[in-house]
Amino acid sequence: MKKLLLLPGDGIGPEVTAVSRRLLAALALDIEVSEGLFGGASIDAHGVPLADAVKAQALASDAVLMGAVGGPQWAAQDYDKRPEAGLLQLRAAMDVFANLRPARCFAALADASSLKPELVAGLDILFVRELVGGVYFGQPRGIETLPNGERRGFNTQSYTSSEIRRVARVAFELARGRGGRVCSVEKANVMESGLLWREEVSALHAADYPDVALSHMYADNCAMQLAKWPAQFDVILTDNLFGDILSDLAGMLTGSLGMLPSAALGAADAPGLYEPIHGSAPDIAGLGLANPCASVLSLAMALRHSLGEPGAAARVEAAVEAALDAGARTRDLGGTLSTEAMGDAILAGV
Ligand code: NAD
Ligand code: IPM
Ligand code: MN
Repeated sequence: MKKLLLLPGDGIGPEVTAVSRRLLAALALDIEVSEGLFGGASIDAHGVPLADAVKAQALASDAVLMGAVGGPQWAAQDYDKRPEAGLLQLRAAMDVFANLRPARCFAALADASSLKPELVAGLDILFVRELVGGVYFGQPRGIETLPNGERRGFNTQSYTSSEIRRVARVAFELARGRGGRVCSVEKANVMESGLLWREEVSALHAADYPDVALSHMYADNCAMQLAKWPAQFDVILTDNLFGDILSDLAGMLTGSLGMLPSAALGAADAPGLYEPIHGSAPDIAGLGLANPCASVLSLAMALRHSLGEPGAAARVEAAVEAALDAGARTRDLGGTLSTEAMGDAILAGV
């Protein structure tokens, strides 16, 4: 039997994950579901954001579905003890280097975007974000006091050729199954790591993927192009930090950050890590206002990529689409439904 570990986490994490849990129950699949503490919730109980036992449980699962971690109550902790550090530890331990972040605008939501409906209707971009390297993990890092008394904060952006090639390969493979185009995004004009990124992606393309159309773009221009004419993109391949920023931007193209799911994948037989791209949303936590669609669509990605249930994945996605078509909207989408009521609307279509 396949194993799914739920890590609801903090803030709206437990609220949106509860909807995915109800959906799972309704689907009545042959999947063993368990739950663990993660992030701030784990700090409160165990003093660490990711307990060894939970890490081991994640590695022994087929898929992990997390909610979100973090919040102001833990922001004063030492950096390596914060909820967010637990998330980085989990991603690294699972070695989920390829983060798939589809940004798809459902037809019913074209008018919920902050862009004109004609610019976002039918939008379907796939971000492939490198997830376990770059400036998030590069050494050295820290804050030091200089001899003149000034403090200096520093981080290191670093990529090796194999780190670049393994994630680029994922982007090229996925492009073959959809629009056949990859836009690789970096800042090769100012960063050596960006230059290496461009060279390695180009070399891999020439050797193994000449059938895929490859283009290159600087990250600043990419942000502008996403707001100007997002439909020009098919697959966007980029590094850890640029992928984080650009995929949040894409959230508004689809109507709300609360719509965007993600899948983080590593080796073919290794477990995948699934999560909404949004955070714990402290400003609305506990109010029942969170949009659960990103969590539900992340569950669908887990069913498809790690749990051997592509049919159930399609049913979940169709149920979200049907609920939106019927006018179901949480507040972020301009509606009035609570998280739970939005869950009811989705469940009605499963
Ligand atoms: P955020 O994504 O939590 O929220 C940004 C804005 O989007 C807020 O106004 C929020 O209310 C809204 N929003 C987010 N998700 C929503 C949803 N499902 N429905 C409706 N509205 C939604 O980003 P932030 O405020 O910058 O970060 C808050 C905390 O979350 C921080 O501690 C941050 O580190 C953490 N964070 C965690 C993750 C994760 O666990 N994967 C991701 C991003 C941020
Ligand atoms: C995300 C988040 C995380 C990231 C943080 C919470 C570590 O913003 O999943 O998008 O920056 O990767
Ligand atoms: Mn982010």
